[in-house]
Amino acid sequence: MGIKLEEVTKIYESGEIKTYACKNMNLEIKDGEFIVVLGPSGSGKSTMLNIISGLDTPTSGKISIDKDIISDMNTKELTKFRRNNLGFIFQQYNLLQTLNVAENVEVGREVGIDPFEIDEVLEQVGLLDQKHKYPYQLSGGEQQRVSIARAVVKKPKIMFCDEPTGALDEETAKEVLSVLKKLNEVYKTTLIIITHNPSIGMMADRIIKLNSAEIVEVKENKNRLSAYEINWN
Ligand SMILES: Nc1ncnc2c1ncn2[C@@H]1O[C@H](COP(=O)(O)OP(=O)(O)OP(=O)(O)O)[C@@H](O)[C@H]1O
Ligand SMILES: [Mg+2]
Repeated sequence: MGIKLEEVTKIYESGEIKTYACKNMNLEIKDGEFIVVLGPSGSGKSTMLNIISGLDTPTSGKISIDKDIISDMNTKELTKFRRNNLGFIFQQYNLLQTLNVAENVEVGREVGIDPFEIDEVLEQVGLLDQKHKYPYQLSGGEQQRVSIARAVVKKPKIMFCDEPTGALDEETAKEVLSVLKKLNEVYKTTLIIITHNPSIGMMADRIIKLNSAEIVEVKENKNRLSAYEINWN
């Protein structure tokens, strides 16, 4: 699915103080595109992602995903739209500790209309042979790959990732990024990754840079690298 932002603004108000978290953002993301969003802490990355994905609402402006106008939806419609179309990955894996790998993925499958088979997705993230393990028996990277499988199993059309490798070391981060890129290629899922690490931009189709709540640069990346080709620092 493609995404379009028109003059999107988000203002947080607390008492007298107004904070612009997103300011007059205009952007089009194509179906199947791989986007990396970069910017310093507090520049509005998470807010932008939350607004695009309907987890939060803009103060003004229009957000469309294909033909649906997200910014006109009420909470109930947004919840349904998110459940049917969107996948999320965060820095914390949020796995259920009392469920094993396959059962954690099953939780994601239950919310899908036409979901994938659990084993197919576990195969894609390289965890098929560990499906009976519990989260505490897995490394950080493996746990993050379970959370990717859980998000992917419902066949989302767009995958939103906020600092998916923020808690991981370089090697593990590359393993997780390589899985995300593969899913983008295999399933043509539109992929949006927020990160502090400019190197990760080398993997994307386009790099969006934010500063002080504004989009300050949109750069095409002609020479896309694999996770293992990027220079981390
Ligand atoms: N719920 C909120 N209430 C008030 N201000 C907020 C709220 N959420 C975010 N902000 C402010 O909006 C701005 C953008 O925050 P945001 O979380 O989007 O930044 P970010 O780029 O994701 O930062 P980081 O890299 O640290 O995660 C910041 O100035 C932040 O303090
Ligand atoms: Mg953030």
